Amino acid sequence: MEVFKTICEIREFSIERKKRGERVGFVPTMGFLHEGHLSLVDEARRHADVVVVSIFVNPTQFGPNEDLDVYPRDFERDAELCESRGVDAIFAPSANEMYPTVNTTWVEETSLTKRLCGADRPTHFRGVTTVVSKLFNVVCPDVAVFGEKDYQQAAVVKKMVADLNFGVEIIVAPIVRESDGLALSSRNKYLSVEERGNALAIRQSLLDAKSAVADGERDSTKLADAAVSRISRAGGRVDYVEIADPDTLEPLLEIGDEAVMLIAAYFGATRLIDNARF
Ligand code: PAJ
Repeated sequence: MEVFKTICEIREFSIERKKRGERVGFVPTMGFLHEGHLSLVDEARRHADVVVVSIFVNPTQFGPNEDLDVYPRDFERDAELCESRGVDAIFAPSANEMYPTVNTTWVEETSLTKRLCGADRPTHFRGVTTVVSKLFNVVCPDVAVFGEKDYQQAAVVKKMVADLNFGVEIIVAPIVRESDGLALSSRNKYLSVEERGNALAIRQSLLDAKSAVADGERDSTKLADAAVSRISRAGGRVDYVEIADPDTLEPLLEIGDEAVMLIAAYFGATRLIDNARF
């Protein structure tokens, strides 16, 4: 496995492999890898000959009061995990390599990003789409894999790729969970033992809604209210519970053929997200 810190080196690596007729698969991450990230590596491997993982804690997607400085990092461990999973190359640039001057050019999706996780984080998705565009320009992947865990992010990236004609296929891979159902996240390590237990209410409320829908419930407000009260009873502070169209993320009052339920809630100071498709 090779580790590259510069744009020049990773670009040369990718172009060389493409010249040999190989397909380059790409998994962008912010590091502190867990089984969720590694499942994306496995998925990339199924669609490509070469797998590149980027590890870059992207400053432009963090708001002024968010956890950029304390975002967990452990490059040695990440590199070992990548190596053991058969990753061909890691791209781990410095912030200065990615943003050598103050960034004044942005890639911004202006519809899907306005609600849910974008509602009170107005520059978050602009940071994501900008860095993902930059990474696509640098790594030149044929296929890139994102996790369904960040449902809105994956939808925004798919829309950006379609709108701007990026020559990369986007694959969205399923959520990986702990055995008790908590979705894996780098931020789970901030939870106390008690908060960790209480946070299961998020997954439970998604499962309750799923079975209510299977029993014929169609009223989104009822389903969302039940989730809010379940999470609140468990000591969580709900940021949003929404039932939306799976592609446009527009809110649905009535559940039709397809819907996605999206939840963001704080347990202690830790903001967790999860979702389920009906
Ligand atoms: P990060 O939070 O490190 O996540 C990297 C990828 O791993 C994302 O596509 C995310 O959806 C996926 N992922 C995280 N937890 C998962 C889980 N439990 N199951 C399946 N996939 C999971 O998302 C980002 O980084 C950044 O915004 C990034 C796209 C790298 C741009 O900076």
